[in-house]
Amino acid sequence: MTETATPVASPGSKVPLPIGTTPYRTHHLGELRDTDDGRNVVLSGWVHRVRDHGGVVFADLRDRQGITQVVFQPDTDAEAHRTAESLKDEFVVRIEGTVRKRPAEMVNSKLATGAIEIVGHKVEILNRARTLPFAIEDESSAGEALRLQYRFLDLRRPVMRDNIILRHRLAQEMRRRLDAWGFLEIETPMLTKSTPEGARDFLVPSRLAPGKFFALPQSPQIFKQVLMVSGLDRYYQIVRCFRDEDLRADRQPEFTQVDLEMSFAGADAVMEVVEDVVASAIRVGRDVEVKRPFHRMTYAEAMSRFGSDKPDVRFGLELREVTAAAGRSEMKVFLEVVKGGGVVIGMRVPGGAAFSRTEMDALSAVAVSFGAKGLGWIKKQQGAWTGQIAKFFPDAVRAEIDQSLEMGEGDLAVFVAGAKRASQEILGRLRLHLGEQMKLIPQDELALLWVTEFPLLDFDAEARRWVAMHHPFTSPLDEDVPLLDTDPGAARSDAYDLVLNGSEVGGGSVRIHAEPVQERMFELLGIGAEEAREKFGFLLDALSFGAPPHAGLAIGLDRLVTILAGAQSIRDVIAFPKTQKGACPLSGAPAEVADAQLRELNIRLARTAPTDGGNK
Ligand code: AMO
Repeated sequence: MTETATPVASPGSKVPLPIGTTPYRTHHLGELRDTDDGRNVVLSGWVHRVRDHGGVVFADLRDRQGITQVVFQPDTDAEAHRTAESLKDEFVVRIEGTVRKRPAEMVNSKLATGAIEIVGHKVEILNRARTLPFAIEDESSAGEALRLQYRFLDLRRPVMRDNIILRHRLAQEMRRRLDAWGFLEIETPMLTKSTPEGARDFLVPSRLAPGKFFALPQSPQIFKQVLMVSGLDRYYQIVRCFRDEDLRADRQPEFTQVDLEMSFAGADAVMEVVEDVVASAIRVGRDVEVKRPFHRMTYAEAMSRFGSDKPDVRFGLELREVTAAAGRSEMKVFLEVVKGGGVVIGMRVPGGAAFSRTEMDALSAVAVSFGAKGLGWIKKQQGAWTGQIAKFFPDAVRAEIDQSLEMGEGDLAVFVAGAKRASQEILGRLRLHLGEQMKLIPQDELALLWVTEFPLLDFDAEARRWVAMHHPFTSPLDEDVPLLDTDPGAARSDAYDLVLNGSEVGGGSVRIHAEPVQERMFELLGIGAEEAREKFGFLLDALSFGAPPHAGLAIGLDRLVTILAGAQSIRDVIAFPKTQKGACPLSGAPAEVADAQLRELNIRLARTAPTDGGNK
């Protein structure tokens, strides 16, 4: 058998096999069906499970494509049977055998190859495996540290393999669509200067320029804008980005963006392309047709209805401001907050009147842990308000709040009072908490939306200065440009985030392409001309040489795959992720380095006491 096939199929489906002259395999392990009955085959793979049933050895062989059962009988193939008896989990074997249709009662409908088995005539052990630290099964009881240390085994688990394959297929589809839209895939430097995404940089010392450092890119932002000035019109890249920030469940210090930028385009054009790219990826990954155009919601609406700039709109529990009514209550805390210019926000919890006193105390404690001073609540039972604070509300005020929260019999209403944004965020988090606790979130739904018109600036209370909410090159909305001089905090930006099931899976903006606006922006951010030149000089230069209007966005690939895979953690869709502490248990990174290496880089460490490992 010397025929070779052209490899065209995508993994997960049937993959063409180059056979070669000494074939390891004629078929993959997910491929054979009852129509192959009687066919002689050669198969290779890992021993997934082996068991002895009354002298007959059954070995399930596994590869990327699936699992096939091989049967070794002592009477017909004695030597093969003897070898099969010595097989252990995860040995690598090559077998020769004949496909046999299973009798109807033996068909395993859970397995793609469950209608057949292979009668093994010959088995060759290609490699052995030590006793495993954990079983290669979808449900693993192994802790994450162990899984990451033995990532090569962890990735053998079918659920992990499927995540990696899904990631590949989504990335391929997005590439395909972007290519169809005329985007050029262009690489940008990894060794570069600080980029403006606002996180801490990972630094790389330069050997050739002692005392100087490269920064790993937090994103290709500046370079992709430069490419637009170069006239390359449409750029994309599936690119690694690096941010040294505190890790959360959906963050990694190095992660992947599907990054794009378009010339002569505004927000609508970017959204149209991204909707096509994301909808196509979802079609491929989940076989679901999502509705287009995606829903759009302003930041102000998202905050006031959901208490979040990335609302999960798969369930209700919406917030309503009841400041005016609360200001007419006799509740001291509310009155003080209202007097001080704060707000009172309520959230109706349908059926929540059934919560016990203990459950209400626990809910209050959660609200306090989110930063609330306390959680006011009332229940509507038998047509009347109950609960400790009910007595502070005159009938007319009760009626008004009932109406605005749409309170019904058996409902609970919770209230948070304080500064507007903080109160919205606290209730927004409480909403998610309750959504999960009450199982209100439909797990199979994909709720996509754009959040638009973000504030241009955010006030950093600690540093007592404005910072860019997206990045300093984001354009204000045209109609808000005059606000830069009068009320910068009220200016909205032409930025947009893509939200999927309450997770920010993409972010982008229309860029400033006019120098005076960019200068004004730097001024507002307290970035002096010299600092701007030092930090972003080459972009500023580029902008002054005929920059076209341009806009773009970056999709967070890891987050998108996590949601589409239904994975628990972003780490489950990255082949070699970092732990929550930013380390890689597989390679042992980060690690100490030899003194000689440091000397070469002109670096002396501040620590004096020697630590173990490496640095001798
Ligand atoms: P932004 O900072 O919003 O925009 O990043 C774009 C998307 O990348 C994902 N993301 C992350 N994913 C995993 N781990 C992280 N640490 C992490 N940080 C961000 C998110 C986010 O929506 N240059 C701009 C894009 C642009 O304006 O075109 C940028 O990087 O899903």
